[in-house]
Amino acid sequence: MDQDVKQVLYTREQIAERVAQIGEALTQQYASVVERGEQVVLVSVLRGAALFMADLAREMDIPVEMDYIAISSYGSGAKSSGVVRMIKDVSSDISGKHVIIAEDILDSGLTLSYLLKNLASRGPASLTVVTLLRKQTRAQAQVECAHVGFECPDEFVVGYGLDYAERYRNLPYIGILKPEVYQ
Ligand code: PRP
Ligand code: MN
Ligand code: MG
Repeated sequence: MDQDVKQVLYTREQIAERVAQIGEALTQQYASVVERGEQVVLVSVLRGAALFMADLAREMDIPVEMDYIAISSYGSGAKSSGVVRMIKDVSSDISGKHVIIAEDILDSGLTLSYLLKNLASRGPASLTVVTLLRKQTRAQAQVECAHVGFECPDEFVVGYGLDYAERYRNLPYIGILKPEVYQ
């Protein structure tokens, strides 16, 4: 375990198992859509959700497009700046497609609220959110999620794509960062 991590919350194996379950559920949910010849596109929210979407896509037994959007609200700090910036848009037109946003964590809900509004305005056939973690915090915007991997404690978590000042993203597990690291 990394010396900056206080406690492992979800192991590599637990994450893999949960991601497989979500992938299977999505496969069933979108089977009829695919049968009708309609397109499904997974949109990963860079950079945090890159790992989650890469694993999720491989657990889906239907053809899906993979696209990426880059948003930032945290910068290098431990707290949201409150301002959401789009750094990179999706590469292809999503109108008429079934969009599944893959996000690593829902915290204040600022990022996903912004994204849902932004993507909805482009006329997708459907728009849903799948998040690996949803933080149990009081101050969270209402964001409807089709699937939540884990309800996670209100702590600063890192690993499996989640960073603190660009570190720890490549940890294969998700853990709580020691407070002395970011205080
Ligand atoms: C983090 C995380 C989510 C978002 C969640 O991204 O990956 O996208 O914050 O927080 P919110 O619900 O309070 O908006 P960040 O802005 O740190 O960018 P990153 O994905 O590149 O790390
Ligand atoms: Mn992010
Ligand atoms: Mg971040």
